[in-house]
Amino acid sequence: MRLEVVDDADWHDEAYRANDRGLFYARQIVGQVVSLAAALLGLVGTAGVLGVLHPALLPLLLLSVLPVGAAAVRTARARFHSFKRWNILQRRVRVFSWLLLERDAAAELRSDTAQGALLEEHHRLTTRIAEEDTRLGVSSAGLTLAGRAVGGIGTGITYSALGAMLIAGWLPLAAGAGAVLAIQSAQSTLTRLVDVSHMVYEHAMWVDDLLAFQERCRALQPRRSGLPAPETVKTITLDDVSFTYPDKDTPALNGISMTLHAGQTVAFVGVNGSGKSTCARLLAGLYEPQDGGTVRWDGVDVLDMDAESLQARVGCVLQDPVRFPFSALANLTVSRGTLTEADPQRALDAARASGAEQVIAGLPGRWEALLSKRFRGGQELSAGQWAKVAVARGLYKNAPVLLLDEPTASMDPRAEHAVYEAVLRDNPRPDQITVLISHRLASVVACDRIFVFDAGRITESGTHQELMDLDGEYASMFTLQAAGYRAEAEEAA
Ligand SMILES: Nc1ncnc2c1ncn2[C@@H]1O[C@H](COP(=O)(O)OP(=O)(O)OP(=O)(O)O)[C@@H](O)[C@H]1O
Ligand SMILES: [Mg+2]
Repeated sequence: MRLEVVDDADWHDEAYRANDRGLFYARQIVGQVVSLAAALLGLVGTAGVLGVLHPALLPLLLLSVLPVGAAAVRTARARFHSFKRWNILQRRVRVFSWLLLERDAAAELRSDTAQGALLEEHHRLTTRIAEEDTRLGVSSAGLTLAGRAVGGIGTGITYSALGAMLIAGWLPLAAGAGAVLAIQSAQSTLTRLVDVSHMVYEHAMWVDDLLAFQERCRALQPRRSGLPAPETVKTITLDDVSFTYPDKDTPALNGISMTLHAGQTVAFVGVNGSGKSTCARLLAGLYEPQDGGTVRWDGVDVLDMDAESLQARVGCVLQDPVRFPFSALANLTVSRGTLTEADPQRALDAARASGAEQVIAGLPGRWEALLSKRFRGGQELSAGQWAKVAVARGLYKNAPVLLLDEPTASMDPRAEHAVYEAVLRDNPRPDQITVLISHRLASVVACDRIFVFDAGRITESGTHQELMDLDGEYASMFTLQAAGYRAEAEEAA
């Protein structure tokens, strides 16, 4: 599934519904179709008996069953639409329940006394679910009652007609009792038929919903065809690249153009929400440019390349990296798509450069230590220690493009310095493009080129010195940060 899909709440609702209903009923519907066939066969038998007694009895029978059938179809539709609303609420309840139980949120919930607020929201949602249930119950009961009432009148008509036929001599008096029995048996078979078909009808709507969702998912798959991305890349060119998130009005990126060369380290800086991470995700092939903009690797449009092979060429340390509940080693190897196969030397090099080596050395079980308290025997790391593991994961991939999105934000100053020394200075790879996103401008001073983002556009670009000489936004941000350090240094002196 393409990445932008996860930002589409409707898609999540559909996925929840398909999982909760569609898959469940898809398994049940086969048995129900068999019951339907059995009920049909039973009906053919009793209808045959009635037909022999008198053909006029057959249409009369329908009078009592059709209203019940019509009510059942209406109820099935009402249930389907009600469950759609119900599922949306249910998914919300799940999200809140998860927040209330999940250990990542536990400390903040307690310290903010937000727990009460969440419980209240949980209660509000479950009340709405109960209201939805009641609404459905009342409307279904009303419909069923109406169906039965009209059906009852139909039954009355059927028996009156039978009486009239007996009096008129259309039927021999002796066949009357048999006819009553046949009518009763046909009615019960028909009622069973209506029950089963209404269930099949309702569940078929869910299976249909599941099939439509599967169809939608197929259309949202990443590109699986095209050229494989090259092993190495000399230049990456972004030309007039724009990107707007689903259901957003303003673009996150608006006409970005830049060229990155192998051997270069470039930096993206700018205020919160200016588009740096979005641009990094586009470079990583995680999003596709919109409105005719292009991203080219050595002149080849990435849209002509297989998406997965492109992503394999980009090592990412994204903002808020995932804390995989795997062993320390698997936390690195997962970037090369495996939890079981490892290159020990490469793992060691990556851990050394990122500072994760010391973290792992301090864990009972070392590389085998399970990094998750969710499971027995698991261990937890501090935020900065996790950041080191995430950088190690990015380095372990050893890809021609390396994206580091605020990788050191939670590291101590020494660890941060060590990462920059190791990643940006000690290991310069002539064939690698490194993109660094950072709010600490001291760390981008040595970058070959700095791009300043503002509201989805690049407003300034150049080396640190060029941007300082320009005396624009970058110079003002840099001076502000430097002044903070200087003032503290002066106070200390
Ligand atoms: N998943 C998303 N769905 C919708 N809008 C998003 C999403 N991610 C980011 N945005 C919006 O896109 C714009 C750019 O966000 P982006 O994350 O690229 O900024 P950034 O420069 O990395 O900011 P920061 O310094 O805070 O990390 C912002 O207005 C943000 O609100
Ligand atoms: Mg960001």
